[in-house]
Amino acid sequence: MIHAYSLVHDDLPAMDNDDLRRGRPTCHVQFDEATAILVGDALQARAFELMAKEIKPPEAAASCCAVLAEAAGAAALVGGQADDLSAENLPPTIVTLEAIHARKTGALFRASVRLGALTAGAGEAQLEALDRYATDLGLAFQVVDDLLDICGEESVVGKRLSKDSDRGKLTYPDLIGVDESRRLVEDLIGRAEAALADFGERAEPLIETARFVAARNS
Ligand code: IPE
Ligand code: MG
Ligand code: MG
Ligand code: MG
Repeated sequence: MIHAYSLVHDDLPAMDNDDLRRGRPTCHVQFDEATAILVGDALQARAFELMAKEIKPPEAAASCCAVLAEAAGAAALVGGQADDLSAENLPPTIVTLEAIHARKTGALFRASVRLGALTAGAGEAQLEALDRYATDLGLAFQVVDDLLDICGEESVVGKRLSKDSDRGKLTYPDLIGVDESRRLVEDLIGRAEAALADFGERAEPLIETARFVAARNS
């Protein structure tokens, strides 16, 4: 829900101003801007309502709400989106860009993995290993997203492409080139998989997820 809301708002005219998402009109195009703003508001509240009500015991629900609130908030997703929108005023360096991607995209990957781990009762060492996995996976996902904007096929990706540079976005291919960005994705996926070594075969679904992220063309 947080992911869906963030995209509904990301597509609004005041943000990325996109008219296509997953091969269909974006929410504000299909309905109107007020509806898209309210849809995002409602999804966000509903995510926390469900976690607060459904996760037991209540202490676990409170921890999960705190994890998600932090990831969705000003220090992470929202702050990353704000910097993404004003990237032209920021120094065009890898340090800046990694910080934007870590917050606008990576934080939600980390929160998703952490919520699963917390509800499954993972220990400190497992939480730490899973966090390394999620951090690398999240960055890889956004580097691939940046690559798809340049090298993707619009009908497959399902959204408008070649728009990042027009909008003055800071992206990996822009900073380090397409080939180096692809190498970075491979490195990150390798590191993400390596972080799961202690889980043995149980990590298979997470490893498949990482490979999917590296190979995706949509
Ligand atoms: C969106 O990043 C990040 C969030 C919604 C938090 P992008 O703006 O790069 O995503 P796309 O390219 O529109 O899917
Ligand atoms: Mg955006
Ligand atoms: Mg966008
Ligand atoms: Mg993008």
